[in-house]
Amino acid sequence: MAMTITKLHDHVGAEIGGVDLSRPLDEATFAAIEEAFYQNSVLVVRGQDLPPERQIAFSQRFGPLEIHILDQYQLAGHPEILLLSNKTDADGKPLGLVEAGRYWHTDVSFTEVPSMGSFLYAVEIPPAGGDTLFASQFAAYDALPQAWKERFASLKALHGLNKTTAPKFTDAQLASVKGVEHPLIRTHPMTGRKALYAGTFALKVLGVSDAESDEILTFLRDHWAQDDIVYRHRWQANDLVMWDNRSVLHCATLFDAQYIRHMHRTTVAGEKPV
Ligand code: SIN
Repeated sequence: MAMTITKLHDHVGAEIGGVDLSRPLDEATFAAIEEAFYQNSVLVVRGQDLPPERQIAFSQRFGPLEIHILDQYQLAGHPEILLLSNKTDADGKPLGLVEAGRYWHTDVSFTEVPSMGSFLYAVEIPPAGGDTLFASQFAAYDALPQAWKERFASLKALHGLNKTTAPKFTDAQLASVKGVEHPLIRTHPMTGRKALYAGTFALKVLGVSDAESDEILTFLRDHWAQDDIVYRHRWQANDLVMWDNRSVLHCATLFDAQYIRHMHRTTVAGEKPV
């Protein structure tokens, strides 16, 4: 069966059909997926049977994988897989990160070299809720008034963590994360397009007064995820969704905690934003 690529939204997201990621892909098929990924920022592949080693092998074709700082939530035997889950072990201890990322963010932008891509595989999902929202930051940049584009062109923001965004981090893990500076506008290395690069980990705009920093961050929070640039992914079990952290913000949503939501996440290393 031939591979299909179907757009899910004007600005962000496409669905790939006719592929079986449980088998190695030939070069041409992989190159088409890679190109679709950079162009659409989010790819959805439904109905995949992906044991951990196959998810790792597929993700690795995009680049080296990262091991998340939250080592208590790694899948046993597969440190490349971070568990996002509300399952518990026999003693009631959480197996994975619960309530991960319920605010607009781009993965680990609080590090010098943030993640390029994140690959989330749905093992078990609740009957309703727990959707993931994706906002195109290419489109957010394009929609900025010209005066703001010029104002932001040379500005940087300090990205970091606090107890609100990282409640599950131990004090030692939190202390190990120093704030880092990133440009407010970054250029995507594969497409050459400009994208807004902020999100909730952006704590302060640098080189301006505190009042101006607050004004800019307030403006950005209203701007970066306007309804018309957001794709809402409604999960089905066996979906693989992958997103390009250089051009989207994402946000997890609530679900009824009496149900299980159990996901496997791999993360591909990125480059320093410029
Ligand atoms: C995340 O990676 O931020 C979590 C996304 C989700 O669980 O929907």
